[in-house]
Amino acid sequence: MKKKLLSLILATAMAVTMLAGCGSKETTSSSEPAADEVVEDDAASQPASDDSASGSVQVGIVLPTKDEPRWLQDQAQFESILGDAGFTNQVLFSQGSSATEKTNVETLVSQGIDVLIICAQDGAAAAAAVEAAKAEGVTVIAYDRLITGTDAVDYYVTFDSFSVGAAQGQYLIDNAPAGSGIPLYLYSGAATDNNAFIFFEGAWSVLQPKIADGTFVIANSSEAVGLQDKAELTRDEEAAIIGQITTDWDFNVAKSKAEAHLTAVGADMKGDVVVLGPNDGTARSIADVFATDKDVSSYVVTGQDAEIASVQYVIDGKQSMTVFKDTRTLAADSVAMAVSILNGETPATDTTYNNEAKDVPAKQTNIVVVTKDNVKAALIDSGYYDASEFTGLE
Ligand code: BGC
Repeated sequence: MKKKLLSLILATAMAVTMLAGCGSKETTSSSEPAADEVVEDDAASQPASDDSASGSVQVGIVLPTKDEPRWLQDQAQFESILGDAGFTNQVLFSQGSSATEKTNVETLVSQGIDVLIICAQDGAAAAAAVEAAKAEGVTVIAYDRLITGTDAVDYYVTFDSFSVGAAQGQYLIDNAPAGSGIPLYLYSGAATDNNAFIFFEGAWSVLQPKIADGTFVIANSSEAVGLQDKAELTRDEEAAIIGQITTDWDFNVAKSKAEAHLTAVGADMKGDVVVLGPNDGTARSIADVFATDKDVSSYVVTGQDAEIASVQYVIDGKQSMTVFKDTRTLAADSVAMAVSILNGETPATDTTYNNEAKDVPAKQTNIVVVTKDNVKAALIDSGYYDASEFTGLE
């Protein structure tokens, strides 16, 4: 790929990034494939490079699942930026399977990709897939979720996930009813996702002092109760807690766990409660369960991703907050990184993340807390969503 063309692509990518904000939307579930289907989305129909003529793919993207709106937001951004900028690219979905993920990576490598942008289904299991890509000379960018235990990850593009968890925890503190002894229900993401640990670590950093001083009482994790006097947890200690409170990032698991927890506790753990909901999909499930328990008089519940359904829940007062992670920025940062790599340059990074094998150079993006009060400013005025997607918006 010629240097001149790459510079042009970079400039175009940046311009498209700015424009992308005007057209962001979610794909409706009716167009979603069956869970075991490998989804290909070949943007090579609008290529502009020499490589495209031969049908090869320059940038391969692997995302975890089409079944969560979060990843459809990312897909839309990638297609918008990469496709319009003239990169040949292909987006494949792993549909919750590390085996499919590995096949997807192999498929992309066989199509000649120079750069792989991958959001791992399982951070440890993905090591084998990226090692295979690396062995073929592909540069690997871990996207959103870090791949652990391998030095085959070249770069990491991520949101500030510690701040996501800390913002969720702080929201519970700031919006809890007055007094002490308030029941706190903890939920986390999947133990196979390194982010679940970082989110929990962020939340624990602010919640633990409020648990230790008796403001909150943990309602649903004996492991967390046993560790409640420890300000900083080891990875193993976090794993023990997450083992009890994980939702697996699955709405149904979240629902049945919340039901089981409310069935197990006594009246003293009901009334006015606060709930650490790990992301939007699981938060809606958990919120629905808490809303229907006649002994729960009020609940505060967190989320993240600013999914359309959850933004509507926030407007309607059914979910208390969400964390907006602007996928336009994350996708654009990844594309800019890919362009630098293809251009033979060292991409700009601003921090590192240790993945148990190396310190991976990383580019990190800030997050925005969204409540009823700033939905319009954060999500509509910024062009991320159209006001017509929602009802009751002031
Ligand atoms: C992402 C979240 C997402 C979750 C479930 C995490 O790794 O950072 O945005 O909600 O996975 O897919």
